[in-house]
Amino acid sequence: VPELSVTASTGVYPVTIEAGLIGRLPDRLREIAGPSRVLVMGDSNTFPRFGRDLAEALGASSWAVPAGESSKSWEALEEGCRQCLEAGLDRGSTVVAIGGGVVGDLAGVIAALYLRGIRLVHVPTTLLAMVDSSIGGKAAIDLPQGKNLVGVFKPPEAVYIDPELLTDLPDREYRSGLAEVLKYSMIADEQLYDSLLANRQKMLEKDMDLLTDVVTRCCAIKAGVVTRDEKEKGERAILNYGHTFGHALEAATGYARLTHGEAIGVGMAVAADVGVAMGVTPAGVSASQAELLSAYGLPQSAPGLATVAETLALTSRDKKNRGGATPWVLLDRLGHATPGHSVDPEVLERAAGRALGSGEAG
Ligand SMILES: NC(=O)c1ccc[n+]([C@@H]2O[C@H](COP(=O)([O-])OP(=O)(O)OC[C@H]3O[C@@H](n4cnc5c(N)ncnc54)[C@H](O)[C@@H]3O)[C@@H](O)[C@H]2O)c1
Ligand SMILES: [Zn+2]
Repeated sequence: VPELSVTASTGVYPVTIEAGLIGRLPDRLREIAGPSRVLVMGDSNTFPRFGRDLAEALGASSWAVPAGESSKSWEALEEGCRQCLEAGLDRGSTVVAIGGGVVGDLAGVIAALYLRGIRLVHVPTTLLAMVDSSIGGKAAIDLPQGKNLVGVFKPPEAVYIDPELLTDLPDREYRSGLAEVLKYSMIADEQLYDSLLANRQKMLEKDMDLLTDVVTRCCAIKAGVVTRDEKEKGERAILNYGHTFGHALEAATGYARLTHGEAIGVGMAVAADVGVAMGVTPAGVSASQAELLSAYGLPQSAPGLATVAETLALTSRDKKNRGGATPWVLLDRLGHATPGHSVDPEVLERAAGRALGSGEAG
């Protein structure tokens, strides 16, 4: 059974990946929680599917939030802290987050703030949460002005990943998570690239052995990066590949037209285009990425969905900026990326124009 470990400033935590792991969770969680109270938290889809049985097996309290990004709010944060209090959680208690990135992020902020911090365990149930949001200790809620503007670092005690939980995940959510998987292959794992290209059909059918292997590889990449650079002083920024333009496109389209993964597909295409124009990315690498994205049905352009001017303005407002030009993550070879590139504005305009269908061809 693959068990990875992440070293955070607060200590080391394990990431266990195993099909069928959910059946063994009550024992694992009893060990972590000891005699203190546990609150199992899910959303209106994940709680009835997985949370209720777990809470019953543990004799734990439970709380379900409405599914969707709107639950990453101040109101939900306050309500969650009240739930902890009513459930009798003390300083030794544990919050178990069973859900996608929304539940994980909200639970992380609650577990960081309630009584100045209690224990947190992640049981991710979306592909995105398995390979991305449950590892690395970041947690945030949104403001009306923007996403993830209020947050904390709250590393968990453990992350338990059961790829079988993905069986009923809606197809669009699954494909959205696949964009992050493709991203990992481009920035860090050429072998993963080959496997994803060769096994497209099995991946889309959620073949459990393959999926377990792929999730494990992605988690290993994220665990390694955040162990070496927890607070994003350097290397961790490579995880943002495709996200500089992708986040801006999501914002420009009001988070309504594209899934996160679809926006990241377009963002990766723009980043490759920019990389080629800057002489950093070999043209063959850009072509290989295009082949992979199209094999998985992810868009590489979004004609007419937003204007170049608005999208680029949002790019430079990205919260990863620290004044000055937006740093870009670019591929320098297949399976390798480097952060911190400053990009000529004309190159950006041309690449954005191609992606949004309003620039000259080329
Ligand atoms: N903290 C981090 O490092 C980090 C990283 C990336 C993203 N995020 C955050 O993650 C959030 C997105 O997470 P997400 O993509 O997991 O979305 P999500 O949590 O909204 O889940 C997507 C949908 O799938 C449903 N669902 C979840 N698991 C299911 C299952 N197994 N079967 C059936 N339905 C299921 C959910 O109820 C929801 O409707 C965003 O808020 C983003 O900001 C955080
Ligand atoms: Zn992402």
